[in-house]
Amino acid sequence: MTKSANTMWGGRFAAGPDAIMEAINASIGFDQRLAAQDIAGSRAHAAMLAACGIISDTDSEAIGEGLLTVLSEIEAGDFAFSTALEDIHMNVEARLKEVIGEPAGRLHTGRSRNDQVAVDFRLWVRDQCDAADAALAELMRALLGQAEAGAEYVMPGFTHLQVAQPVTWGHHMLAYVEMFARDRSRLADARKRMNFSPLGAAALAGTSFPIDRHMTAKALGFDGPMPNSLDATSDRDFALEFLAASSICAMHMSRLAEELVIWSSAQFRFVKMSDRWSTGSSIMPQKRNPDAAELIRAKIGRIFGANVALMTVMKGLPLTYSKDMQEDKEQVFDAADNLMLALAAMAGMVADMTPQVESLRAAAATGFSTATDLADWLVRELGLPFRDAHHVTGTLVALAESKGCDLPDLSLDEMKSAHTGITQDVFTVLGVDNSVASRTSFGGTAPSEVRKRAADWKEVLG
Ligand code: ARG
Repeated sequence: MTKSANTMWGGRFAAGPDAIMEAINASIGFDQRLAAQDIAGSRAHAAMLAACGIISDTDSEAIGEGLLTVLSEIEAGDFAFSTALEDIHMNVEARLKEVIGEPAGRLHTGRSRNDQVAVDFRLWVRDQCDAADAALAELMRALLGQAEAGAEYVMPGFTHLQVAQPVTWGHHMLAYVEMFARDRSRLADARKRMNFSPLGAAALAGTSFPIDRHMTAKALGFDGPMPNSLDATSDRDFALEFLAASSICAMHMSRLAEELVIWSSAQFRFVKMSDRWSTGSSIMPQKRNPDAAELIRAKIGRIFGANVALMTVMKGLPLTYSKDMQEDKEQVFDAADNLMLALAAMAGMVADMTPQVESLRAAAATGFSTATDLADWLVRELGLPFRDAHHVTGTLVALAESKGCDLPDLSLDEMKSAHTGITQDVFTVLGVDNSVASRTSFGGTAPSEVRKRAADWKEVLG
């Protein structure tokens, strides 16, 4: 290479194209996270090769044992990963050769790195589905605890972030329990679909060796082998489904986080966040910042970013494997790590926060939040059409507003000025407690309903 061409590569790569090629080509820097899955896949493969008479039992046992040695070296942090060996598959195999010698060379019979990486990654993502499921259950338990403790605390329900109708704290907490339950079911659904083994699809076309793909699938906890070798080696939709489900979950957490940020502000004072999840300001001594909530609010950015990135990597790739697909892992690793971190922090934050019952209650009564209850009373008790009731209520809201008071503070005479049929009984629906207690429709905000739903969830979550 000429000197002038060499400078084109830039400072860090002054060593020339070999170093640059190694840097762009190697995945060992990140795919070493697949070591345990890689070794599990190889052990299943080796056992199957012997069972099918493709390699000897002696060789298979040596391979199986040797792989365990390699695994323990990796787990102990005693393994020298080599970039020259490119990826986890070749790093493990090269070390196996050093440990057991010649039989190591028989391990790769009837398979390729293409099905190997596909199986490793599936196993890894499958584990993440399980881990996220457990973390979601923990978060749901924390929300349920809040719901049980505050089933009847009255707070404002918002639309457009304007006070709309009083609701209960327990009802609000259980709304998130429902969302996170659906996130779990999305992950479970994705897990079910991904639980088929690509191992034995070999490079792309299958193999002429008499392998038993059902056997390896079973050994690795899959429901069976993937039925098309081209698909098995080239699809990454299982990772995309994980990212999509994770994105929706992160979006849900982002909404809750945003509420906690708003609620913990001096303007709202709906909730007191524990010191454990807040930070002080280096300059403003009075500040308690909800940093954990803010960071959780932001995590959707990188998690959905990973989803978009991998979708974009996969888009337009011809069948079957292309090296583009090596770009799948870092996105998924990062998304999974951050999802788990956010779930753990959110569960802790929710468990430790304290609703400020008095502020919640005071805020619930602002903004004529029981106006709908008044209108409903006019319909129910006086038989007014809802549109007329809406009009009468509007008149009374205007009156209360002009007097600077709330609806329950109006006198019966003032009420009658808007509609002569109104009786003293109307006051029974006007307080915030009456309002929420009356909303007993299925899924409604009444404390009695909230307690029923909380009991249902308690049953599910233990
Ligand atoms: N490191 C590669 C990956 O992550 C493994 C598969 C390599 N296969 C190949 N034919 N070069 O995708």
